Amino acid sequence: MSPATTTRNWWDHAVGYEIYIRSFADGNGDGIGDFIGLVDKLDYLAWLGIDVVWITPFYSSPMRDWGYDVANYIAVDTTYGTLDDFDAVVERAHALGMKVIIDIVPNHCSDQHEWFQHALANPTGPYRDYFIWRDAAADGSLPNNWVGYFGGPTWTLDEASGQHYLHMFLPEQPDLNWRNPAVRDEFEAILRFWLDRGVDGFRIDVAQGLIKDEQLRSNPQLAPVDASMHRWEQWDCFEHQHDILQPETLAIFQSWNDIAAEYDALLLGETYDLTSLDRLDRLVSGGDALHVGFWFGAMHLDWTAESIRSTFAQPIDGISAGLGWAQNSHDEHRSVTRFGGGDVGRRRALSLAVLLAGLPGMPFLYQGEELGLANGIIEAEDKLDPVGGDDLDAGRDGNRTPIPWETGDGMGFSEPGVTPWLPFGGRTEADTAAAQRNDPDSMVHRYRQLLRVRRTISHIADAEFEWIELSGESSSDVVAFRRGDIVFMANVSSDATPSPLTGEVLFATNDEGRESRTMLAPDEARIVLVLDP
Ligand code: NOJ
Ligand code: CA
Repeated sequence: MSPATTTRNWWDHAVGYEIYIRSFADGNGDGIGDFIGLVDKLDYLAWLGIDVVWITPFYSSPMRDWGYDVANYIAVDTTYGTLDDFDAVVERAHALGMKVIIDIVPNHCSDQHEWFQHALANPTGPYRDYFIWRDAAADGSLPNNWVGYFGGPTWTLDEASGQHYLHMFLPEQPDLNWRNPAVRDEFEAILRFWLDRGVDGFRIDVAQGLIKDEQLRSNPQLAPVDASMHRWEQWDCFEHQHDILQPETLAIFQSWNDIAAEYDALLLGETYDLTSLDRLDRLVSGGDALHVGFWFGAMHLDWTAESIRSTFAQPIDGISAGLGWAQNSHDEHRSVTRFGGGDVGRRRALSLAVLLAGLPGMPFLYQGEELGLANGIIEAEDKLDPVGGDDLDAGRDGNRTPIPWETGDGMGFSEPGVTPWLPFGGRTEADTAAAQRNDPDSMVHRYRQLLRVRRTISHIADAEFEWIELSGESSSDVVAFRRGDIVFMANVSSDATPSPLTGEVLFATNDEGRESRTMLAPDEARIVLVLDP
């Protein structure tokens, strides 16, 4: 009998890295990250051990939502450079052995996009149906009860025509009508445009939301909405039956999958939903639609064994393949901050990175995570994110502050004397990539070591995920699971705790861990090769 062979995709054991381009590296000294800055830093990412970079939107945009409001999908915003500069990024990344995926934003465009401008100017013209329009209800109320991801109603009146248009985000981000075949054709051409330029795939913004209920029925309401609620609380007042994860979405991604296959490209969905596993499963697990869908639980978990276990178990049990994992992004407060900040926050974030590195699927880091960065400190007058109104804490600026590459004015992000678009937010020398590269005990070296070790155990991609059952004290203090002969474990308590299994320690978050086989230090995580599983 011939041994079973597994067909591998290039992303099956890959590690991704999110580049929020505006805050990564400024090459032309205007205080805003760009392609010239980015190209110079690709060596650093290769050194770190990254396989795939995901670049956030760089298309021409009025920047109401910092590029997630696209005015032209096949043009580079001059803020970030030119198409030639983009090509140079792809070329250099490929030369270093890294793949490049770009962020495509198909759910909505900018109100400045010519499609929307035509739709406004000519309500009977062909572009009107690129968007979703409804008359107000007979009593003058809004067409339905949907709330947006940023909170508040999803309908804005176009006074000229007397109709409302739908927007799941800002009014400046009108939703596209994916039931219109012309919209599908437009995007298939856009995908090909970038694939022909050499990109290796797409991170698909709001992948769960492209298609809406045909009749735009109101969602079942679970609790009353109060305008003062945080945006997620408003969202959670409804069961999202009609606005997201509609069955017709599958056909869109199946068609994209055919195109991607021609180029061996990756389709990675921003499948933001934590409740409808059954509806999400079909989009990713068959491999004929999205290849990978992000599971966002790791951005919301508490540092307890119970919370971590249930966060992992939910998608692993409910979605059979194709998971992407991240504990940080440009949308959430940084995990070091969420876990309490300082050394404790950093320790926990690194330990969570160890666990994510062992889960089935694709782990992603977010720029600066490998430096152990907490949120940057933003003052009220510096708030730029439209989300959250005056509520600083609800905004995303603190997790988007520029990367501190070096000490000194400009922090190696920009030239000395230049004010960055967002403040650095209180970075110290110890936060900088330069200082950390000189210190073998720094976070950046630990992350690098973690990624190196992960590369050496690629066979886990074929191994089942199995929980290691724990009893007594360990069950509330330790999270542990196995992938074949490799065990991943973390002590979530603030006390030293006996290790549930011993073996050859391949990686430990602290040095003592490498020496003491039997005890796990507070918040320590390890990767262990167990010889007699
Ligand atoms: C998700 C993106 O990650 C976020 O930054 C953006 O505001 C929304 N989608 C809307 O595009
Ligand atoms: Ca710049």
